[in-house]
Formats: sequence, structure tokens, C-alpha cells
Amino acid sequence: MIERTPLSTPGDGPPAEPSPVDLGYDPWSPAFVADPYPALARLRDGPRALYDERTDQWLISRHADVNALLRDRRLGRTYHHVATNAEWGKPDPPAEEAAFWRLLDLQMIDQEPPDHTRLRRLVSTAFTPRTVDRLRPRIDEIASRLVDEAAALGEFDLIADLLELLPVSVIAELLGIPVADRASLRPWSGDMTLVFELNPSPDDRARAVRAGHDFEAYLRDLARERRRHPTGDLLSELALVAEAGDRLTEDELVGTAILLLNAGHEASVNGAANSWYALFRHPAALAELRADHDLVPTAIEELLRFDTPAPMFERWVLEEIEIGGIRIPRGQELALQFAAANRDPAVFARADELVLDRDPNPYLSFGAGIHYCLGAPLAKAEFDIVFRRILERLPRLELVEEPAWKPRFILRGLESLRVRA
Ligand code: HEM
Repeated sequence: MIERTPLSTPGDGPPAEPSPVDLGYDPWSPAFVADPYPALARLRDGPRALYDERTDQWLISRHADVNALLRDRRLGRTYHHVATNAEWGKPDPPAEEAAFWRLLDLQMIDQEPPDHTRLRRLVSTAFTPRTVDRLRPRIDEIASRLVDEAAALGEFDLIADLLELLPVSVIAELLGIPVADRASLRPWSGDMTLVFELNPSPDDRARAVRAGHDFEAYLRDLARERRRHPTGDLLSELALVAEAGDRLTEDELVGTAILLLNAGHEASVNGAANSWYALFRHPAALAELRADHDLVPTAIEELLRFDTPAPMFERWVLEEIEIGGIRIPRGQELALQFAAANRDPAVFARADELVLDRDPNPYLSFGAGIHYCLGAPLAKAEFDIVFRRILERLPRLELVEEPAWKPRFILRGLESLRVRA
């Protein structure tokens, strides 16, 4: 039951509220996915919290609100630490999906303290800026080779032939996934993450469950092998911690490895590709970057602000909150619109323009609060290196054809990006 405090407006009763549909917020429409920004701007200009009956979510789109709510402990990524599905008024997943959801529920991103703190601490040292700095020479070696190989193709898909291969190789190497097995990783991630889309179809759910099952079985075998014969990588390290039994269970280990691989693939690949597509659409900005590679660090952050690969994240209301006179009770779900917040003119001057030297740039694409992206330093290092190598070695890189967007909003990315060296 939604309670609202009346808005104090003159005249007869509260003003009629626009519906998200009227504003053009339609995450299932190809036109919206191709360019969600006009609709997101209308959403941001509307009420600070707008109920969407199609998803049973409250849409929050202003920067100040999204930023504050990400840090608000009255909200959670999950409610499982405080209530059962039945108590929360939600059905249990169907039997054939139960193992799949259990695995996802064990991941740190879907845990709250104290389990979140324990799981994050176990892997955090592998992703600190200092550890990532030590990885830079190796990332550069991989990126340089990939850029040279792509350049030799003449005309190629910037995603499949280059941008996808770097984050997949780096995270797979960090975890210790054998080279021969790596081709399965991105398809597994791609399929598994289909369930994060809004109201996924039964087909997508079934595909996700199958991928999750295969991914889990593969990693469980590999983790057991690494426990018997450690090879000095992150998976071996975690397998040994799990063996001790007190800080990490084997299921949590498998869930963590899947999370790192999924997160390391989807957002990074889409983020890099969306950024290059934005540059191709803004030739003056691309020329500026080509003329001054020192702009790369701020340009990367600006490109991630301008067209984030992860435009929306959800939160459960664990304790009633109030936003702009609207009370949202416990049990409701918020949809935090990162892409709208990233273009909020109250925070960003020339919000709809690419300003490559923007500083400060309080964009929210890596989140905020306790779930702030663990992989942010790694993703930024990968972007920094591969963008520089592309700018140096492919100085005339150009788009060959307009790309198509995947029919996905939550992990928003292109099907392919055909370019000519
Ligand atoms: C451009 C690339 C990336 C973007 C835009 C991105 C974005 C995000 C965001 C927004 C969150 C927080 C979600 C929330 O608060 O609900 C997050 C969490 C996370 N990300 Fe990333 N990510 C990227 C790359 C990576 C990489 C490369 C890795 C790992 C190798 C990674 C690992 C994680 C993990 C483990 C979490 C969960 C952290 C926690 O719950 O404490 N991400 N990411």
C-alpha cells in the first residue's frame, strides 16, 4: 500500500502526476535504449520519486537523490538479511531456478553487512589502486598485442576483435582461468546477466539459468583443482581460504568468482564500446583527444558519465523513507537512474555535452557507498591503457556503419562496432 503526503499546491487537490510511460521511459523499446536521455531528462524534471506500475518500482533520477540514497543504510541491495520472501510479499523462485538464485544471493553485491564486509575484504586487496598499478605492465602487454592484431585486420569489430578481449583476458588471468577455457566466459556472463533486465522473458530466464549452471559447474571443478594444486592466482588463494572453512564456503567462492567474471566482462566491455561510439559521434572531441593524449584520464571518466554502460541499479526500502514529500514504505523497490543523474544540469554544466577535461566530475557510474564498484581502479587502468594504444596505433580509426544496440537496458551495450583502421 503506497502512502503519499499531499503536495501543498493551490487549487483543487494534488496535481495529476505524469506516468513514466507518458514521459517516454520505456526500457523495453529499442528507440529508448538507443537514446534514453530525452526521456530521462523529462523524468528528472518531474517528481523526485515516480511510481512505475509496470515494474512496481519508484524511479529516482536526480543526482542529489541517487547519490544520497546509494549511501543510505535504510536501503539494501537485498532484503534477505531481514525478511523471507514470504514476509516481504514476494514469491520464492520456481524450483528450476532455486539453485541459480541461491548462487546470486551469495555474491557480495547481493549481501549486506556483516557478510558483505567479510566477502569484500577477502578479495579487496586484489583490486586496490596499488595492486592495479603493479598489473599495468601486464595489461599494457595484452592491450598492445590486441591493438596490433586488430590493426592488421584493416576493417574489424572494435568490440569482438579488441575491446572485449582485454577485460576478459585480464580478469581471467587474475583469477587463473586457463587460456583454452576463456572463450566460454563472455557468453556465460552475457546469458547469466539477462535476468538483471527488467521483467525478463521466460526464454531469457531459462537461458540465464542454463548459463549459470554451466558456469558454476566449471568453476567448482576448477576451484577444487586449484585447492589440490594451487597456482598462485586469486582462485587458488580463495580455494585455500575456503578449505580452512571459517571465512568462505565453497559456494561463496564460486559465487564470488562468477561475480568478478560477470562484472569484469559486461560493464567494462560495454563501457569501453559505448565510449568509442560516443567519440565517433563527436568528431571534435575525438580530434581533441587525438591531439592530446594527456586528456585520456579525465576523458575516460567523462565518457563513463556521458553514456554509462549500467544506467540503473535497484534498492529495497528496508525502513520507510521520504523523498520530496512522498513517503515510500518498507518493502518497496527503488530504481536509481544513474544515467539520468549523470546528466543532471544541477550538478554538471553542459551536462549533455562531452567535456573531456571535466574536473571535478562527480559522475555515479561506479556507484557510491558500501557497494562502490570494487573493480573501478582496474576498469580505469584498462581503459587508460587501451585508449592510449588505440589513439597511438590507430590514429585514423573510423566508424564503418551505424551500430545496433542490444535489446537490453540494465547492461546497455552495442551488438558490434564495425570500424576501419
Ligand atoms: C566500466 C566498468 C564498470 C562499471 C561501470 C561498473 C559499475 C559498478 C557499479 C555501479 C557497482 C555498484 C552497484 C550497486 O551499487 O548496486 C559495481 C559493483 C561491483 N563491481 Fe563494477 N563496474 C565496472 C567494472 C568492474 C570490474 C572490471 C570488476 C571486477 C573485476 C567489477 C567488480 C564489481 C564488484 C565485485 C562489485 C560489487 C561490489 C560490492 O557489492 O561491494 N566491476 N560496479
